[in-house]
Amino acid sequence: MNKGSRILVLNGPNLNLLGSRDPEIYGCTDYDELVEMIERWAAELELTVDIRQTNHEGDLVDWIGAAPSSFDAIIINPAAYTHTSIAILDALDAAALPAVEVHISDIYAREEFRRISYAGLACEEHYIGYGVDGYRMALLYLSERQ
Ligand code: DQA
Repeated sequence: MNKGSRILVLNGPNLNLLGSRDPEIYGCTDYDELVEMIERWAAELELTVDIRQTNHEGDLVDWIGAAPSSFDAIIINPAAYTHTSIAILDALDAAALPAVEVHISDIYAREEFRRISYAGLACEEHYIGYGVDGYRMALLYLSERQ
């Protein structure tokens, strides 16, 4: 992607609790620190980021729906909505922007119900189980993408 490309980074429910929520699964980085890290990585790659978190599925659907007029790509960690939300899958398909899925934990090595990712079906790349470094990998992927 060109330098200065605009990336919408979306985080779903309970990711605001990073650092205090199950640190053995999600690590010790808190949400504010994660935002700072993503901003720094994006600046190093000369990408522009708008980083948002919500606990509400409809917010994610609305933000994805509005994205094509303002953004060039989406990085999304839909959190628990990953495993339930066909609405987010449909919104990503309709937006038709390059989308990358990130999960801090390895959803395939946890409970059975986490093994389905609906949102992931609309994403062209996936960084799963790399901790918060997955966001850096997603940014790097987009920066190198044609
Ligand atoms: C998560 C994995 C989901 O299963 C879970 O509901 C989350 C976070 C992750 O980043 O590892 O809230 O998306």
